[in-house]
Amino acid sequence: MTQAAAAQPSKPLLEVEDLKVYFPIRSGVLIDRHIGDVKAVDGVSFEIERGETLGLVGESGCGKTTVGRTILRLYEPTEGRIVFDGVDVGSLNPAGLRKLRRRMQMVFQDPYSSLNPRQNVGNIVGEPLQIHGIASGRDMEKKVAELLDIVGLPAGAANRYPHEFSGGQRQRIGLARSLSLNPDLIVADEPVSALDVSIQAQMINLLEDLQKEFDLTYLFIAHDLAVVRHISDRIAVMYLGKIVEVASADELYTSPAHPYTMALLSAVPIPDPEIELQRERIILKGDLPSPVDPPFGCRFHTRCPFRQPERCDTEDPALRPLPEGNLVACHYSEEIRSGALTPHDPTP
Ligand SMILES: Nc1ncnc2c1ncn2[C@@H]1O[C@H](COP(=O)(O)OP(=O)(O)OP(=O)(O)O)[C@@H](O)[C@H]1O
Ligand SMILES: [Mg+2]
Repeated sequence: MTQAAAAQPSKPLLEVEDLKVYFPIRSGVLIDRHIGDVKAVDGVSFEIERGETLGLVGESGCGKTTVGRTILRLYEPTEGRIVFDGVDVGSLNPAGLRKLRRRMQMVFQDPYSSLNPRQNVGNIVGEPLQIHGIASGRDMEKKVAELLDIVGLPAGAANRYPHEFSGGQRQRIGLARSLSLNPDLIVADEPVSALDVSIQAQMINLLEDLQKEFDLTYLFIAHDLAVVRHISDRIAVMYLGKIVEVASADELYTSPAHPYTMALLSAVPIPDPEIELQRERIILKGDLPSPVDPPFGCRFHTRCPFRQPERCDTEDPALRPLPEGNLVACHYSEEIRSGALTPHDPTP
């Protein structure tokens, strides 16, 4: 345990406070004009405890990757704070940031495009050790062999190249590389989405084993709620740049509080045929609105089957706690759950 961690044992490992990440849109051939922003992340706050796995889910384009990359400062935040192990990441000078980056690593969705095809696996996995001056030569080879063994690859893999491996094995290579610096936090951005269903479970089991063995904390990004359920302690659901619900994995599945979470769950099959037949399905109509010009009031109102125009179209709901401990950003969660409001077409 680091000194900072010993001094403040109850502090979360990661705190994200009101994070905004806007990408400017420019136009003009002769004069460069700033004509708007893609509000990819627009006021997101959450914490991750040490050793915890927080799942982050939501439709394509809702800002999940942007959150992950900004935590590692691969993108600059437009506003807000990221505090890692008590240190405000934004206040660090380049040297401090480099040091901190060793403790946070990212695992990518497409293991092929993130591995250099011209380097052999030994160099790919060992490169961070060399860059940070931790090991080289024989020492590095030994460490690489150990890392390959940890992720379940044969020692001979070191002399081979990424294209000689299957998708699942390539994901293991990427994982070995990100483990090489002994990180505390791993941001796993859809680490199993590109893999065959049969391989996905193996990969998730491996991630869980590694978490125990190395005291890892995970931010696990996925667009599918079925994938994150087993690995996550808590799950945060994003919609159009904002978090709409945070709950323990069990609570989120058994009694979701936000209509968007309900809709995402409607797409997940339930193994019990009786419940499967009885449950009410919420099928979302319409496209995801543009993050350049998000809807006023509650961003979900244009697609929400429980929309109450007077309030939902005008007042942005804050993320508020429910008695069970869920956090939800909806004005009418209680009424929806009790059945006082019934689903209808969102366009009046
Ligand atoms: N570098 C960038 N420059 C401009 N816009 C960007 C950039 N990266 C992302 N965006 C935009 O920001 C929004 C959020 O993108 P992001 O990749 O974070 O979503 P996501 O939830 O990870 O989606 P997916 O499930 O498809 O991976 C999208 O509208 C995207 O087009
Ligand atoms: Mg993404």
